[in-house]
Amino acid sequence: MSDNTDHEASAAPAAFGIDIGGSGIKGAPVDLVVGEFAADRVRVPTPQPSTPSAVADAVAEVVASFQLPGELPIGVTFPAVIQHGVARSAANVDDSWIGTDVEKVVAKATGRRVHAVNDADAAGYAETLYGAARGQEGTVLVVTLGTGIGTCMVVDGTLVPNLELGHLEIDGKDAETRAADSAREREELTWERWAKRLQKYFRTVEDLVWPDLIVVGGGVSKKHEKFLPLLELRTPIVPATLRNDAGIVGAAALARRALP
Ligand code: BGC
Repeated sequence: MSDNTDHEASAAPAAFGIDIGGSGIKGAPVDLVVGEFAADRVRVPTPQPSTPSAVADAVAEVVASFQLPGELPIGVTFPAVIQHGVARSAANVDDSWIGTDVEKVVAKATGRRVHAVNDADAAGYAETLYGAARGQEGTVLVVTLGTGIGTCMVVDGTLVPNLELGHLEIDGKDAETRAADSAREREELTWERWAKRLQKYFRTVEDLVWPDLIVVGGGVSKKHEKFLPLLELRTPIVPATLRNDAGIVGAAALARRALP
């Protein structure tokens, strides 16, 4: 009998999520019933230079620090366009990633089944399953404000991958260079001045996409009361609720879907 119970416990929907960022690589097993970590996450610094082999070894180190069933799928977030496992751009990671099959490189280093996705897609998908956009019908747009601007669109539960609205050209400039949180920090903008830039950005986006709900993520979203009330948009706009966990949770959920 106890065998059966053990079997059932390990068959509960679960996956491992890894978030690869410019400064850190973080991973944790995720309980997909509730969308929460099943154990404390482990973080290692992103190797410099952040070449594919160095990063893959660091990912393997994170995975190896947990005792995981061999078949458990691994979801990897990456700060780039990811088409069928291959990186087509590279934001805040080494340019040698462009054209690299992220899934193959990480699968080789870890010996596991791997599914790779864009970082904003992972975070946004998690918000629609477990967070601020849970139960929302229609078009959800999740925008992460960090070093860059990541965008994710989910339509009636289906992810439309690699929406790169962070790079919209506004006033002749790549929007993320003006409106990302890194621009606020770099230029020491007041919340009011930054909000003016966000106003222009979100107004442009809502005119193009007409979402039913906008969710704002990224580290700065925990200070949402400083800037969200300053925005005047027709679309309801709310802060993300999973915050830092969203990438790992979303990567795990997408991996489980892709690698059942
Ligand atoms: C990249 C996106 C990424 C975002 C957040 C942008 O510069 O083009 O792919 O999702 O940064 O990391």
